[in-house]
Amino acid sequence: MYRALIRPLLYLLPAEAAHHLAFGCLRLLAMIPGVLGLMRRAFHRGDAALQVRALGLDFPNPIGLAAGFDKDAIGYEALGALGFGFVEVGTLTGQPQPGNPTPRLFRLPKDRALVNRMGFNNRGSADAVARLRGPHRTIVGVNIGKTKAVPEEGAVDDYVASARRVGAFADYVVVNVSSPNTPGLRDLQATEKLRPLLAAVREALDEVSPARRVPLLVKIAPDLADADVDAVADLALELGLDGIIATNTTVGRDGLASNASEVERCGAGGLSGPPIRERSLEVLMRLRARVGDRLVLISVGGIETVEHAWERIQAGATLVQIYTAFIYEGPLLPSRLAKGAA
Ligand SMILES: Cc1cc2nc3c(=O)[nH]c(=O)nc-3n(C[C@H](O)[C@H](O)[C@H](O)COP(=O)(O)O)c2cc1C
Repeated sequence: MYRALIRPLLYLLPAEAAHHLAFGCLRLLAMIPGVLGLMRRAFHRGDAALQVRALGLDFPNPIGLAAGFDKDAIGYEALGALGFGFVEVGTLTGQPQPGNPTPRLFRLPKDRALVNRMGFNNRGSADAVARLRGPHRTIVGVNIGKTKAVPEEGAVDDYVASARRVGAFADYVVVNVSSPNTPGLRDLQATEKLRPLLAAVREALDEVSPARRVPLLVKIAPDLADADVDAVADLALELGLDGIIATNTTVGRDGLASNASEVERCGAGGLSGPPIRERSLEVLMRLRARVGDRLVLISVGGIETVEHAWERIQAGATLVQIYTAFIYEGPLLPSRLAKGAA
C-alpha cells in the first residue's frame, strides 16, 4: 500500500515536506490512546532469536533508525513502535540552528538515493532534554554535533555542552564528526583533533552519569582514506570508546544511474542509499579486522533488504541502521527487516 498509494502521493511534495507530513502523521497516530501499544504488538515479535546484547543494553532486534530522521527527539517512541530495535536521535547541536536554506533534501529515484544538505537543523540539545528525560521503551542513542556558528576552537566546548545535557538520559551517545554539511566538521576526524574532543566528551559523560557508564561511539564518513579509518579505530581503542558507527553520507557522486542533470539539480550535499553500500561495507570490514571484538560496530549505508542487513552482520556489524531505504520503502520496512534477521 505504501509503494502503490502513499509514496506516489508523498512524491507530489518536495522531499522535506513529505518527510514532515509522514512523520507528523505517525506522531499523531501514536498519540491516540492505545495505538502505540497496538503498533508495538503488531511490529515487534519479541523473538529471543532477534535480541542483541551490546553496549550494556538488550536490543530487541539489530535494526536501528539512523540519525537525522528524528533530529529533535520528538517521535522516537512512535518510530520504535514500528519495529526498530533502536532509534538514534539528532544530530543535536549545542545551540539551536535553522540549518541551510531550503530546498536542501533531494530524491534520486533511479538510484533509490537521497542527497541532503540539511546542515543540522535542530532546536538544540537543551531543548531535547525534556523529551529524553524519563523512562522510554525504545532504546535511544543521542547523536551530537557542532553548532555551525561556533568556530573550530570552540568545538570541544560545544560538544561537551550537549554531552552534559543529554548524557544522563541517553542509552548511548554518538560524536558525529562526519556530516558533510557543516563546514570544517569532517576535519575533526583527524586524530590530533579527535583525541581531545572524544576525551572531553567521555569525561563529561562520566561526570553527569557517575553511576551508569554511558556508552560513547564516534560516527565516521565513508570518504575517509583507509589509513584514516585505521587511525580512528586505533584512537577509539586507545580512548576506551565503546564503538564506531560507519558510515555517514558521501560527498562523492560516483556510479549513479541518475543522469548528470538530475544529479546537478541536487547541488552539494551528502549522498545516501545504495550508491554508498559498497564503501560502507568495505569500511565495516576494515574496522572489524582492525579492532577484533573489542568495539561495537554499527553499520549504516545503503542497507535496503534482509540480505544486506545479514551481509553486514556476517561482516562484523553488531547492529545496523537504515535511513534512505525507510524513506523509499515506508513504515513496514523495519519490522520486515527485523523479522528476516532472526
Ligand atoms: C536527510 C538526511 C539527514 C541526515 N542527517 C543526519 C544527521 O543529522 N546526523 C548524522 O549523523 N547522520 C545524518 N544522516 C546520515 C544517516 O544517518 C546515514 O548515516 C546515511 O544516510 C547512510 O545511511 P542510508 O544509506 O541508510 O541512508 C542523514 C541522512 C539523510 C538522508
